Amino acid sequence: MATRKVVKVGEEILRKKSKEVKDFDESLWQLLDDMKETMHASDGMGLAAVQVGILRRAIVVEVNNAFIELINPVITAKKGEDIEQEGCLSVGNFRGRVKRPYQITVKAFDRFGYPFTLTGEKWLARCICHEIDHLNGILFIDNCLDKDIYLKQNRK
Ligand code: NI
Repeated sequence: MATRKVVKVGEEILRKKSKEVKDFDESLWQLLDDMKETMHASDGMGLAAVQVGILRRAIVVEVNNAFIELINPVITAKKGEDIEQEGCLSVGNFRGRVKRPYQITVKAFDRFGYPFTLTGEKWLARCICHEIDHLNGILFIDNCLDKDIYLKQNRK
């Protein structure tokens, strides 16, 4: 395992749409292992492959000490609403409130290509939504209720 460099806001790749994973092979496993190590090194709750410069639909999350890898994740159901502050390893120190579903159900594949379905609430739901947004080129600052503050702080 090795840590990889985290891509920061302003770099164009963060705005690109990631492609589906087709090969559940050793290079994917290496990527996932490195993403886990990179997330731990930065004390994050989640990481998308694009954040280490790989445009593939793979994310890792760790909420309440449960580490989960999701490949080609698709949200199939959403329930309720929840507002909390988020941050992002690609954005820096800014944290701001984002409205998310309180509960989601997501279909995905594990690293060996086996499909599974997961229902998560609160922070797990939030974290998965945040990472799936990354796969579609969306950053939390785009939909942040405190976007004005972010823009003010980052005005040049
Ligand atoms: Ni993020």
